[in-house]
Amino acid sequence: MNVRPRRLRTTAGMRRLVAETRVHPAQLVLPVFVADGLDAPRPIGSLPGVVQHTLDTLVTEAHRVVDAGLGGIMLFGVPSEADKDATGSAGLSPDGILNRGLAAVRDAVGDDTVVMADTCLDEFTDHGHCGVLDDRGRVDNDATNELYAAMAVAQARAGAHVVGPSGMMDGQVAVIRDGLDAAGFADTAILAYSAKYASAFYGPFREAVNSALSGDRRSYQQDPANRREGVKEADLDELEGADLVMVKPAGYYLDVLADVAARSSVPVAAYHVSGEYAMVCAAAERGWLNRDAALAEAVTAILRAGADIVLTYAAAELAERANGATE
Ligand code: PBG
Repeated sequence: MNVRPRRLRTTAGMRRLVAETRVHPAQLVLPVFVADGLDAPRPIGSLPGVVQHTLDTLVTEAHRVVDAGLGGIMLFGVPSEADKDATGSAGLSPDGILNRGLAAVRDAVGDDTVVMADTCLDEFTDHGHCGVLDDRGRVDNDATNELYAAMAVAQARAGAHVVGPSGMMDGQVAVIRDGLDAAGFADTAILAYSAKYASAFYGPFREAVNSALSGDRRSYQQDPANRREGVKEADLDELEGADLVMVKPAGYYLDVLADVAARSSVPVAAYHVSGEYAMVCAAAERGWLNRDAALAEAVTAILRAGADIVLTYAAAELAERANGATE
């Protein structure tokens, strides 16, 4: 017998026939930033090709998402410094920049793609933490959850199909689910950032949202050293009613992602975060990597590990290339 695995690699057609993993636009979600008080979009230095949008350019970007056939768009709000306070109230107000952005995007796209909202206070607090602080300066879990529930209701009212709690408070999914149901938003889905690690790879995101944080998030986000804990967090979120669960970051956490994907009974998302994207861009700018090939490989690997959905800053370009390839 002449065993030759290379037979299946002999032509492009053969390789295409046997590919186990394909990057399809419908699986990709584009994270976007909308900022208050801008006259024109503002480039984010550490995220080449990504900007803080005005409401107008945000709507243009939302149309691009629909045209590219992307599965969804995830909105983050960047309030003006004057609107930040200790409780992040601009995140809950219908007049806050995130809720205005959600309304504008939903109005523009209807149900043609899935409109998602980051449900977290860190962009809106003057101290930059993901929740409110108690009198000793620690993040208060249960008081924060009440604010998340109100924030989720405001986001659903503004037009979000999906809310995405990313603050890693215990019990946040259950409290948000109850809040949405009580307010008449039983159809609004929850994408839980379930296994979210305290990662150095969020660095460029902090620039993208003008983060006020001076410390770190290690008392609520997970320790990168721990694998089982990621599975436990995803299990708990599923029990609390999460419609989708997420692992974040993605590329350095493929073990956690594979574990969660193997046992989850709900769809599993993974977030290819700002630092993962920025590293590729930076190396490509020096001519050290092929940007398109590296980004495609990164996302393919995340899907291969078991993700059903990938959030990535490269979503639109990957989709546009995939669409070009099939036309
Ligand atoms: C918190 C949040 C963060 C990201 C998404 N939601 C930052 C953090 O936890 O510090 C990071 C996303 C990225 O790096 O691309 N609202």
